[in-house]
Amino acid sequence: MRRPELLVVGVVLGVALALALGAEQPLSYARDVEPIFIKECVECHGVENPKKGLDLSAGTGLKAMLDVKSTMVDMPMLKAGDPPGSFLWLKVTHTATQGKGMPRTLFGVRKLPKEQLDLIQQWIIQGAKP
Ligand code: HEC
Repeated sequence: MRRPELLVVGVVLGVALALALGAEQPLSYARDVEPIFIKECVECHGVENPKKGLDLSAGTGLKAMLDVKSTMVDMPMLKAGDPPGSFLWLKVTHTATQGKGMPRTLFGVRKLPKEQLDLIQQWIIQGAKP
């Protein structure tokens, strides 16, 4: 008896869900990128005596990099929309011409997993949003 009504409700809910899932939500520094840096980088880029003065600890990393000139090369550490124009990107992809790839380790370097690099790249392309 009530089947047609249920069907209508079902279709409406389905469409709403599809719209919600499909809506593109830009990646966020605080939510998506910073947790990676907190885990992988603050050992050397923390509050105390950070390497090259670059402090990536919670709440400071984005401001420390966005449109801030590198201390090593003549380019910004982070340029919104432009991964190849961001020294940070060259560092984490190990394509920088100065210094080593990041994250460094005691004896060498390590590369972040591809999913994390993809995420960082997308975040920069989407405008390096907070
Ligand atoms: C074991 C220590 C260590 C770790 C871990 C580390 N770094 Fe570094 N970082 C350094 C040192 C030392 C330098 C300067 C020498 C060089 O570039 O090799 C540097 C330089 C940099 C620079 C260039 C700063 C400038 O002024 O241009 C960036 C950007 C950077 N690191 C990002 C990161 C990121 C992002 C991570 C984590 C994914 C990370 N680093 C992890 C030691 C570290």
